[in-house]
Amino acid sequence: MAASKPKWATVKTTLPARPLPLNASRSPVTTDSLLIRPLVPEDARSLHILRTQPEVMANSPQGRPDKDLEETQQRLSPFLSPNDEKTFNCAICLKDTGELIGIGGCHQLVSMFGWPAIGYMIRTEFWGQGLATEFVKAWLESWCELPRAEAELEIDRRTLLSDEDEESSPEQVTAFTLVDNIGSQRVLEKAGFERFLTWEEADLRDPALQVTLIGYRYVLGDHLRN
Ligand SMILES: CC(C)(COP(=O)(O)OP(=O)(O)OC[C@H]1O[C@@H](n2cnc3c(N)ncnc32)[C@H](O)[C@@H]1OP(=O)(O)O)[C@@H](O)C(=O)NCCC(=O)NCCS
Repeated sequence: MAASKPKWATVKTTLPARPLPLNASRSPVTTDSLLIRPLVPEDARSLHILRTQPEVMANSPQGRPDKDLEETQQRLSPFLSPNDEKTFNCAICLKDTGELIGIGGCHQLVSMFGWPAIGYMIRTEFWGQGLATEFVKAWLESWCELPRAEAELEIDRRTLLSDEDEESSPEQVTAFTLVDNIGSQRVLEKAGFERFLTWEEADLRDPALQVTLIGYRYVLGDHLRN
């Protein structure tokens, strides 16, 4: 499918109420294998190990490992005070040891589709153990538990569930993956996301090339508790 210009619609929906809870007030969450907690400045070194693994970074828009610790610190800063009010990104740690093995959550309240976006990365030594799926499921629960506020949002019309939803649309979280990132697609599908769009655009890693991307959405609807 050729790249087409997004067409925008204004919908009434909900979003997590602002300000988002600050890192200092967010409670850690545990799952069978993971401790999911707010990020702290001291995570920079562990994050640097993650973000200098070529296999981890290959599918990111940056497409390459961080150059040095300072670059990793810059990447961490949007998730630390005073920026923590605008993001909901977490350290993904092993429950047994506390070791940071990944990062994930909402790095962007307004994605290319207008809805909040989720992303995640896990250190290669821990791939294939179900940990990313475990993280996304737990993160979605925390996201759904945040207090809600009514919102009017400009969203990409292609995310709409049907024409009837044009004026009032249930809240969504969106994600996108490269077409060949099968692992990430499986994570999203196992966590309850639905594939809604395939498109091509310039590759951020090399704008001379085109890439095929797949868009996913998770409709919060009945999952919201308040
Ligand atoms: C994508 C990523 C997060 C997956 O993490 P993970 O912890 O290995 O994922 P899970 O173990 O929860 O796997 C979920 C499913 O995907 C499958 N899967 C994982 N990696 C896969 C791969 N490379 N190829 C095919 N299937 C894969 C698993 O087998 C599992 O499916 P199954 O239960 O049906 O067997 C990890 O590979 C990663 O960090 N990649 C680099 C960063 C990245 O691409 N982030 C996403 C950007 S959109």
